[in-house]
Formats: sequence, C-alpha cells, structure tokens
Amino acid sequence: MNARSLEQIAAPEEDLVFTPEVERSTAAIYERIRDVVPEIEWPVHAPYIAAILKLKVERRAVILAHNYQTPEIFHGVADLTGDSLALAREAAKTGADRIVLCGVHFMAETAKLLNPEKTVLIPDLDAGCSLAESITAEDVQLLRQRYPGVPVVTYVNTSAAVKAESDLCCTSANAVEAVESLGTDRVILLPDEYLARYVAGKTKVRVILWKGHCEVHERFSGEDLSTYRRQYPNLSILAHPECPPDVLKEADFVGSTAGMIRYVGTHRPARVVLVTECSMSDNVAVEFPEIRFVRPCNLCPHMKRITLPKILNSLLYDEYRVDVEPGIAQRARRAVQRMIDLPGGSR
Ligand code: 13P
Ligand code: SF4
Repeated sequence: MNARSLEQIAAPEEDLVFTPEVERSTAAIYERIRDVVPEIEWPVHAPYIAAILKLKVERRAVILAHNYQTPEIFHGVADLTGDSLALAREAAKTGADRIVLCGVHFMAETAKLLNPEKTVLIPDLDAGCSLAESITAEDVQLLRQRYPGVPVVTYVNTSAAVKAESDLCCTSANAVEAVESLGTDRVILLPDEYLARYVAGKTKVRVILWKGHCEVHERFSGEDLSTYRRQYPNLSILAHPECPPDVLKEADFVGSTAGMIRYVGTHRPARVVLVTECSMSDNVAVEFPEIRFVRPCNLCPHMKRITLPKILNSLLYDEYRVDVEPGIAQRARRAVQRMIDLPGGSR
C-alpha cells in the first residue's frame, strides 16, 4: 500500500470520537453486550470498532478471536471466534488476504503455518504463553534420546520450533484422540503436566509428561471450588484441563473452551462457573442471559495485551507480521496438519 492510500484510510487519533454516526452504526453491537460492557466505556470502544469494521473490509482481512478476548473484541469486531482447534481450522479455510489473530503468539504462528502465502498479523508481538515458554526444541530432542521410538504429541500451545520436533499436535479438544491415534502403548505428551495427567486418566496409552503449567489455570484450587459448591448447591462446575488435578476432580465437566460453551448451550445450567480465563464468562453470558455465572477472575495477561487500538494499528500498518523460518515451518506444518485431519475434537 502506498503512503497516499494509507493516509486515505488511516483514522488519526483525533478522528476517533464518539460521533452520533458512530453511536448509530455500533448501537446493535452495544445492545448485545450491554450487560458485560459498562455504558461509560462504550464511547471509548465504539469509534475503534467502527473504524476496524470499515478497514477490515478495505484490507480484505479476516479477524479471528480466541474465546478469551474481551467482549468488545469478541462480539465487536471478530469474524470468527473459537478455541485453539477452531481457530486453526478456520485459518486453514480462509480466503482473505490478511489474517489478524486476536489471541497469543502460538495461535498466530499456527495460522501462518497453515497459510504460508498470506499475511498473518498479531496486534501485539509480546502476547506470549507460559506453556509455550516452558519447553524448547532442544528439550524435545533430549526427550527423544531418552525414550527412543516413543512418538511425541505436542500441545498447540508451543512454538513452531517445538512443533517441528513433534509427530503430531493436539489441543485440549482432541488430546485423547490424538494420543490414541498413534497406535502405540506409550506417548510423550508435551508440555502441560495437568493436561497430560488428565489424558492419562482417559486412555490405556502410557503418557510421559513434561512439567509445564499455564500461569492462569494453575491458580485455581479444588478448595476454592468446594467453597463455591457450599455457597451454591445447584452450581455446575466446568473446568479447563490445564487446571490442577484437584480442580478437575471437583468439576462436573472437563473440556476445551469450546467444549465448555457447548456444555452450557446443551445443559442450560441455572448457575455455572467456568474455571478458566475470565473473559470467557462475559462472552458466554452474552449468549445466555438467563444463566447465572459465578465469576472467579483469573486474567491471562498475554491475551489481554490485545486491544482495539492495537487491532486498528495492525490493520493500518500490517503490524506485526508473524513469519516462521521455512525449514521449521515445513516440519511444524506436518504435525499441525495431522491434527487438523484427525476426526472429531469432541471435548
Ligand atoms: P482452548 O484450546 O481450550 O481454547 O485453550 C487455549 C488456551 O490457551 C487455554 O488456556
Ligand atoms: Fe497460555 Fe494460559 Fe494464557 Fe492460555 S491462558 S494463553 S495457556 S498463559
């Protein structure tokens, strides 16, 4: 894009005001999310939403947002939303020129692996993940030396370099299917200890694990949940498998973020707690206003780096491009594609 056309579409800060036109054009969005976004915040969000909605069409961009994004992003500007598995599948299908990934870096890398010809953007390059940072490619090579012949299944919350050392990727939605699909009696499942322990309890395959943890989910405890249950005897507890075992023991359902949303839609509990990142409850509450949500709040600081102003910049200036070194990309893509080709993804 040349400087002149950029100037034409650029929305300088002073233009981002809450005009009557902006209020009108975003009124239907606000109506949907008014229970989870305070009225006082809307004049700040709405001008960005209006500018992003216009610009994403001009830039032939698709905005993918993870379930942990804040409601003004999730319900305001995203074209497609979902868990890690759904975002990977959508990224593989899109016909857009640009993919703006509102999530964390490994998700944008996965989108790039599946779309090597497209421009993949993340609005903040520092949106990382404690699980992805817990293991390196060299660690995986050492594990292979220690357990010769044992296949490696890698959680999608890892760098492309780690995926490149793996036989197959998985997400929390398909980890059991992924482990069983290899037909071996032992599998190395990396890097989340608690997900690996959970999977080990669901299969006859022996699981060799790594001690990586999610800094958000490891903060929940089984004791917290017993306290909620005492206070609300009819409470349904849904937990993400990255939580510690005592939390999962207390849960009525364990599954990926998409699995939890499906459970809420199918079972319509009167009162529910989603034991996961806190924006999830806001986003799901919008769809189910009759359900009462108990909301312990553990924020993912990496997910929260993505904001509307950064998404606008991303579209305006193609910031920040995510690229994967071709030698790594080729091997990592094979592991991700094998996951996409797995049937199911049920949890
Ligand atoms: P999901 O794949 O369940 O959306 O989980 C992603 C994640 O980062 C959980 O912390
Ligand atoms: Fe990583 Fe945990 Fe944040 Fe998910 S919630 S992106 S696993 S740090």
